[in-house]
Amino acid sequence: MGAQWGDEGKGKVTDMLAERAHAVVRFQGGTNAGHTIVRNGETWTLRLMPSGILHPDKLCVIGNGVVIDPRVLTDELDELRRRGVDTRALRVSANAHLIMPYHMLLDHAGEAKLGKLAIGTTRSGIGPCYADKAARLGIRVQDLLDEKILKKKIVAAIDPKRLSLRPYARDPVLDLQSMTEQYLLYGHVLEPFIADTSRLVLERLDRDEVVVFEGAQGVLLDIDHGTYPFVTSSNPVAGSACIGAGVGPKDIDEVWGISKAYQTRVGSGPFPTELEGPLADAIRDTGGEYGTVTGRPRRVGWLDLVALRYAARLNSMTALAITKLDVLRGLDPIHVCTSYRGSEGAQFDHFPYHQTVLHHVAGEYEQLPGFDEELSGCRSEEELPAAARDYLRFIEEFVGVPIALVGVGPGREQVIWTEAGRGMAGSTAATPA
Ligand code: IMP
Repeated sequence: MGAQWGDEGKGKVTDMLAERAHAVVRFQGGTNAGHTIVRNGETWTLRLMPSGILHPDKLCVIGNGVVIDPRVLTDELDELRRRGVDTRALRVSANAHLIMPYHMLLDHAGEAKLGKLAIGTTRSGIGPCYADKAARLGIRVQDLLDEKILKKKIVAAIDPKRLSLRPYARDPVLDLQSMTEQYLLYGHVLEPFIADTSRLVLERLDRDEVVVFEGAQGVLLDIDHGTYPFVTSSNPVAGSACIGAGVGPKDIDEVWGISKAYQTRVGSGPFPTELEGPLADAIRDTGGEYGTVTGRPRRVGWLDLVALRYAARLNSMTALAITKLDVLRGLDPIHVCTSYRGSEGAQFDHFPYHQTVLHHVAGEYEQLPGFDEELSGCRSEEELPAAARDYLRFIEEFVGVPIALVGVGPGREQVIWTEAGRGMAGSTAATPA
């Protein structure tokens, strides 16, 4: 799970966990996500594909809860094949919903209409697609296999949107015939991958195989539990893995929350520990904090432990992975937020449920000693400077969840497995040989 506002480095952690797993499953979100994996000096940027796709021997699933832009999916398949990756183990849920050209237009139009109040979406059609799903007007992957049904469903989906789509009436992407033809073509390419993915995953669980469910976005972008309305339109919390992949709550043994050693956010909405000015610029540049999908500079701030503790609770988190610890090098003291102060002076130890309150709180901080040492070569906790270790201990104690893994650089090998991480049950799946 992303334990913040997304972009925590889930791709890298999943890629590592995938090494010992038998299957990797995505269960929510869509092309709004962007996973960057650096492997043997090669960079992979994936938007829809589960990170496990780089392991050809793993079952790789795009679950029913994902919203799929078939253009992006077929492009990613092409690109992976071009770079020599065997993609035959990919399976796409027949029940997953499809992003249609009108979803993208409506996402753009919705944001433009909101003006200054815009959510700052990735404009990939996510919200309108999930809205159609809830309204029972969605087009699903299985519909790509039947021309008649596909056409009928597109007509039914467009009909109630006529008014909002009027400015685009002449846009060729809305032409019914060519849209249908284009989507049938996608269906043709995707057909070998379409499956009852819930059954495939359950079969593996029945055989006691290890399955990694890979979240997209982060808890604070959850449509129910995040900073609504500045959220995405799915549920990036752990419970959503059950719905979006078709497994039961008891099938999940461990929940790993991924958090950066600091905080970032793309798009609008409250951000109690946000920094501005040279310090923010320095963290943004050192951390390369620019959106994978949109290229937008990310907003940056100090680590927010009030929010992280909230994320831990919402997800029954059993372990934390702290990424990008190396980015904090040279910052002294390091600030870490342990409560919020409201505009009228009230102190909040818990994530406030009220939007107005949340919009006006500011972080209250503990100051911890910084470190000047280069961390990128550290491979064990003992090799870390004492101040970095103390910082990790502070997080662990405050949140009440053990840290299993620490990231000290972009490369796959630039991680530290903590003692707790090595001892974990999931380490059958996760610990390096
Ligand atoms: P949407 O998911 O494109 O509708 O965007 C809604 C909000 O979620 C915006 O603030 C986006 O910036 C944010 N968002 C969506 N996906 C991601 C992600 O993968 N990382 C970070 N932010 C995201």
